[in-house]
Amino acid sequence: KGLRVQDKGFLNTAVIHSTITYIDGEAGVLRYRGYPIEQLAERSNHLETAYLLIYGSLPTKDQSKYWETEILRHGTMHADSEEFFRSFRYDAHPMSMLTSGFSMLGSFYPEANPSLKGQRLYTDGDAASLATMDRQIYRLIGKATTLAAMAYRVRQGRDFVTPPTGLSYTGSFLYQMDHLGEENYVPNPILEKALDVLFLIHADHELNASCTTVLQTGSSLVDPYSAIAAGCASLYGPLHGGANEAVIRMLISIGKPENVPSFIEAVKRREKTLSGFGHRVYKTSDPRSFIVRKTADEVFKVTGKDELLETAMALHDAAMKDEYFIKRKLAPNVDFWSGLIYRAMGFPLDFFPVLFVVPRVVGWLAHWRQMMLQEGGVKIWRPRQVYVGAGKRDYVPADERT
Ligand code: CMC
Repeated sequence: KGLRVQDKGFLNTAVIHSTITYIDGEAGVLRYRGYPIEQLAERSNHLETAYLLIYGSLPTKDQSKYWETEILRHGTMHADSEEFFRSFRYDAHPMSMLTSGFSMLGSFYPEANPSLKGQRLYTDGDAASLATMDRQIYRLIGKATTLAAMAYRVRQGRDFVTPPTGLSYTGSFLYQMDHLGEENYVPNPILEKALDVLFLIHADHELNASCTTVLQTGSSLVDPYSAIAAGCASLYGPLHGGANEAVIRMLISIGKPENVPSFIEAVKRREKTLSGFGHRVYKTSDPRSFIVRKTADEVFKVTGKDELLETAMALHDAAMKDEYFIKRKLAPNVDFWSGLIYRAMGFPLDFFPVLFVVPRVVGWLAHWRQMMLQEGGVKIWRPRQVYVGAGKRDYVPADERT
């Protein structure tokens, strides 16, 4: 009683105080823990930035070494998980496998599940509880690449690869994806760096749909594997992490640059969506889109230009000049160019959202940790609704129904 639906789609609802990521959507500003995304993309790397997002400050050399060692060490999987992966259909979507994979991981680590012990496990200031939390963080970040590579290789009927030693996080991922057994494998340094930059800029973006899902799920004090699995499912949709895949499908359907004007007209008639444009928060270009565009040029030097690049550029330029898009403040988001890079690097189309999840596990964990340790404890997220259905009515047996 007295309730009103205030904010359909949460356009203007803040549900938490956060110190992690700052976005100014009007000015096109993105900062992690105060550091501009451009500086981090230029000077940091994905794992160092992951530490920053989760613990709040850049690591010292010793902290960095420990952090990287722990994450890479936790990349290996329990042997039984291989059977689990082999039970998927040969053509299963990698996002379905990945979502299930995170959930499966939880079954291996009951220590992460507070409900099994009947207590709130994670308490700030309690060293044992924080160490337990850290272990789940190492495992989830470390195994994200391994799960992703398993989802990739199982469809090709290839054996799984144990994460190597001596490579970076991104290098290890590339090795696990495509390693054919050669000795002294070294990933192409330009592609490794490019993927690392893409990982870094995808690591967090405050309360988007998937992060909100992680927090909503985590607010019941479930284990972090289940919360991350829920976030992964949310990211799968084409309005969120599936958008980079949708961009490529759109570009393929447009084909040549000369077909761009008729596509733009179809968007304006609301028959089509311009995937990779528009954002709930940014009302100007997404600052990450510039970094991705620059990275694309580096990658194309190694792989050669993607044949869809010219169509993408023509589409971009046409939309940026068109009154329909200008009036609605629609500009390229992070997904507009990233798919072209993934395609040029040889990743299959339906694998693109996986390349978003792997780094985003970091942001989800940063927000989950912040919520679990917040002062005053966790309050379960339980919104209300306004019921507009039927009033009370009495049950009618089947043979009396008309
Ligand atoms: N193409 C055509 N029209 C659009 C688009 C688009 N991509 N995005 C928004 N609009 C129109 C929309 O129809 C509406 O017009 P009107 O006011 O005349 O009804 C107006 O712009 C406002 O859009 P909205 O749907 O109210 O905006 P939203 O904040 O609810 O949605 C969005 C944001 C990202 C879901 C939407 O822009 C979209 O669907 N974009 C395409 C999908 C995409 O690229 N998603 C990736 C987002 S960034 C990475 C991530 O979060 O995963």
